[in-house]
Amino acid sequence: MTHCTRQWLEAAMDHHKSHNPDPSCQRHQSAYRRERNDSGRNHREFQNVRSNHHHLHHPYQHQSGPTPGKNPPSSRGLSTRKENYERDFPVYKQPVEVGCFSLDSERRFFNDSRQLRYYSEPERNPHFDLKDGYKDRFIKRDESVKEKLDHILRWILANRSKLSSKVATTASPCALDVDFVTWRGHLTKLLTTPYETREGWLLAVTRFRNTLYISEVETEAARRELENRTERHQEMMYWGYKFEQYTCADNVHSSPDPGGVVNTNEAFCTVVQTRLTDHRLLFSGEVDCRDKDPNAPGPPACYVELKTSAEICTPKQRSNFHRFKLLKWWAQSFLPGVPRVIAGFRDHDGVVVTVETFPTSKISHLIKSEPNCWKPTVCMNFCSDFLTFVKRTATEDNPSVVYLFSYEPHRDVTYSIHRDSQYSFLPHWYVREITSSQDLH
Ligand code: A3P
Ligand code: MG
Repeated sequence: MTHCTRQWLEAAMDHHKSHNPDPSCQRHQSAYRRERNDSGRNHREFQNVRSNHHHLHHPYQHQSGPTPGKNPPSSRGLSTRKENYERDFPVYKQPVEVGCFSLDSERRFFNDSRQLRYYSEPERNPHFDLKDGYKDRFIKRDESVKEKLDHILRWILANRSKLSSKVATTASPCALDVDFVTWRGHLTKLLTTPYETREGWLLAVTRFRNTLYISEVETEAARRELENRTERHQEMMYWGYKFEQYTCADNVHSSPDPGGVVNTNEAFCTVVQTRLTDHRLLFSGEVDCRDKDPNAPGPPACYVELKTSAEICTPKQRSNFHRFKLLKWWAQSFLPGVPRVIAGFRDHDGVVVTVETFPTSKISHLIKSEPNCWKPTVCMNFCSDFLTFVKRTATEDNPSVVYLFSYEPHRDVTYSIHRDSQYSFLPHWYVREITSSQDLH
């Protein structure tokens, strides 16, 4: 780990206040059900770093323990039990923004930041009515259109020079210099999996020119839920976007326009590169807005995540907020290095009564008093081990082959293999373009 990375991780995890005396954090356990061989490349690669920083006592400062061994994954799956992931915090490099893109009011792609908005700090008790405009000033994105990774792939094709490996060899024909391409939201789901007791997921993986593409597939349960959403639930989904409209301006010198239309086709997405243990990641995530101050640090440190949540009135509500909501908020913003989450707490009638800032680096400390609460290290170690599992499983390099990974609460992650099926998700235009440009080498 470089000095810079270590500093970032300390800041991102608020190292100095977070010493965790729990001896279970020191355990190095395999997430695989079977015996494993610990002498992986990963372990050796990080030995130097480990000895360089042995004076730092916090578990987050150390490298990840051994990664799952060399045994080929079999029909046995990957454990999702949180106890198996309570080891040292794995290396997670400071995410670097390598680009961005925008989707306009008709969901058209632009390789620029035209949809980036600017945070306009509201009063502490603003009384924003989130119901306003739901009936007459709301254009909702068509959720039946499954976009898969298409926008990210478009961004990749428009920015190949930033990503291509400098030396492409026939032995290792890697079109992009990354191991995984995916949405931040899919990684958020992975981070929270050891604590997820309600919703399963399906992730389709294709290996193409040695990069693994991960794209979500809607589960049957999610499809049913989408179909059976109540009117109240539909309206509540609007509230989060309405809060964004109250707090975001279109440019540095303008003010928010709560009288305008809320159009959920519009989006600004950051594209970041980072590394989790030995997994080089490229992912994109939607960003709500940025700091107005031109002297604010560069992206992603200037970005702000906006959230709404029900007002907290009882200890039970506080505990649920800590255990479930803060886990999701932390995972979503920690991944791309977004340092601030601004929350609007609303009453039962959809009126924001208080606004509070949650620095991402402080979230995991707020929850320490909760018994059996979630731990960032479990989230990150599970994600790392899942990616190792994927690398070892999805071995055939073929754009029409999908390895479908499946999680059901309280079960291991399992997978199945599909050729030329409904699950294939890499579009022909992408495969053609990557293939033809690579063959020129
Ligand atoms: P809240 O975050 O205030 O709930 P994001 O916060 O990720 O930027 O998403 C913006 C808003 O989209 C959410 O606001 C919520 O209104 C809506 N939304 C996103 N994902 C959702 C989901 N899975 N179910 C319901 N609403 C969702
Ligand atoms: Mg948000």
